[in-house]
Amino acid sequence: MCGIIGIASNKPVSINIINSLKKLEYRGYDSAGIATLKNNLINEKKCSGRVDELEKILFKSPSDGNIGIGHVRWATHGVPSILNAHPHSSENVSVVHNGIIENSDELKMELESKGLKFKSQTDTEVITLLITEALNNNEPLESVFKTLNKLKGSFALGIIFKDFSDIIIGARRGSPLAVGYSNNENYLGSDSYALKSMTNKISYLDDGELCVLTKNEVSFYDDKKNKINKKIHIVSDEENIADKGDYKNFMSKEIFEQPITAKKCVNEYIDSLKKDINIYNFPINPKDLKKIILIGCGTAYHSCLVAKYWLEELTNIDVEIDIASEFRYRNLKFNDKNLYIFISQSGETADTAAALDICKKNSVKTCAIVNVIESTIARNADWVLPIHAGPEIGVASTKAFLGQLIVLYILILKLSSIRNEINQTTYNQKIENLKKIPKFLKKTLDLETNIQILAKEFLDAKGTMFLGRGSSFPIALEGALKLKELSYLHAEGYPAGEMKHGPLALIEEGLPVIVIAPKDKYFEKTLSNMQEVIARGGKIVFITDNKKKSISENIRFGLRVPHIDNLLSPILLTIPLQLLAYHVALLKNCDIDKPRNLAKSVTVE
Ligand code: AGP
Repeated sequence: MCGIIGIASNKPVSINIINSLKKLEYRGYDSAGIATLKNNLINEKKCSGRVDELEKILFKSPSDGNIGIGHVRWATHGVPSILNAHPHSSENVSVVHNGIIENSDELKMELESKGLKFKSQTDTEVITLLITEALNNNEPLESVFKTLNKLKGSFALGIIFKDFSDIIIGARRGSPLAVGYSNNENYLGSDSYALKSMTNKISYLDDGELCVLTKNEVSFYDDKKNKINKKIHIVSDEENIADKGDYKNFMSKEIFEQPITAKKCVNEYIDSLKKDINIYNFPINPKDLKKIILIGCGTAYHSCLVAKYWLEELTNIDVEIDIASEFRYRNLKFNDKNLYIFISQSGETADTAAALDICKKNSVKTCAIVNVIESTIARNADWVLPIHAGPEIGVASTKAFLGQLIVLYILILKLSSIRNEINQTTYNQKIENLKKIPKFLKKTLDLETNIQILAKEFLDAKGTMFLGRGSSFPIALEGALKLKELSYLHAEGYPAGEMKHGPLALIEEGLPVIVIAPKDKYFEKTLSNMQEVIARGGKIVFITDNKKKSISENIRFGLRVPHIDNLLSPILLTIPLQLLAYHVALLKNCDIDKPRNLAKSVTVE
């Protein structure tokens, strides 16, 4: 999604703004721009496409100035184009914006009725014109406050002013914004990762807050215009390591990092000496828990789905799952004996963050399972369980999904033990099995060579289906999501038992169908569903951990992952699907780390 950078310095800032925008590229964007201020003139440069393009423009025609703002835009209002790219500037003010102004049409009409003209189709330009108008009688801060009072929707803003050449104003409502500190230089950024090469000292704005940056100081204000102090966090080195090393792209690095991710995560939560799980400080006594509600979007939602099966197997706790964008608008009956668990890699997903806010307003207990521990969702939840996956840069979530599954499984196991719903021997055995995951993941990754061959079969496919039952159903959904987002091939995930109720009509000669069938209680049933597909010409890719099942001639391609504890099989079965999506996308020359139209951090609704 969109990304913001602002730098106030004692030296020219355009090169550092460009470098920081490159760090924001992973979020997904379609145009870029920069505005610097020198000799009371705003100098704006924009391009449609990549930051490299913007860099070339600056190379030909440098932008001087010790203060500036930059932006990568993910189109919401108006097509991706130079005119719609940010910053949006008037003669006096230049603005970069993340988020959506919901009443922009109304505000636009008001401004147009006063004779003001708009250059772009964006919602952002109303902010520029409103601040410009307010500046007639006010100081910059006051003009921003006045403008914000008129805006509905979500935003993070970076603003510079022609006649106030040493300040950048930042403001946040809904969309994240961070401030970084250094010597003779201060920064504004959509996330701390974008500022990493310049500083590790970061503060995070909360909703309704504003900041005023000069090269020497930063002041913060709440929504009532009171000056406030903000905590400075030192961002850990680990959060700062994000380099693709010898890998072709971040996604392949992140797929192959998974044995290490799993090891780190398991080590964080398993006390090998005590043979127990290190999870304490439950916001509700586990014995009193009535229900667990799991909420997330996309891949994070799929981990909620897997967790539902685990909760049902290992505990007697009621469980409900929901997609955050649905949860936030439902007419829910909140209960203070329920625990609401929010899953998010970034911790900044707008729908998930809004769903969490609703829970907070209803005074129920919340838990965040996140990768980014300084994120909005982590900061707002009552209880945080980090997944310790390290930065995930590829838009497609891989190692974070693994981390989410491991943390969810460990949490559920612990709940089951505290509630005496599992006997000690099984509990100990399950802890031992968790420790085996890294080794088994490594073995599973060895399937890559076979999957490279398999990927070729998808090049001419019109589409594909992924089938599974039980906890393999969410893995089917996840496999389909990975394939469609990376290779743009139409892919659907279905519970195998549902085929006869409609989707079977899609099966025709040669359609690739991926059947996920671990050796669990559904195995035979899944095989029957597979036969129904074979009978109609489906070309089967069969993925199992069942050593006994021979890969018959009716199966076009077979992949065997190691067998682990039945409950843990979804963790291993995901790997071939990630590799398949990756290799099909690679063969199709797709932009693997930045698939078209998508963003890493979905900070708008
Ligand atoms: C997965 O590959 C995605 N790109 C996407 O579905 C993602 O999982 C979703 O947007 C949620 O993001 P979050 O985990 O950062 O909240």
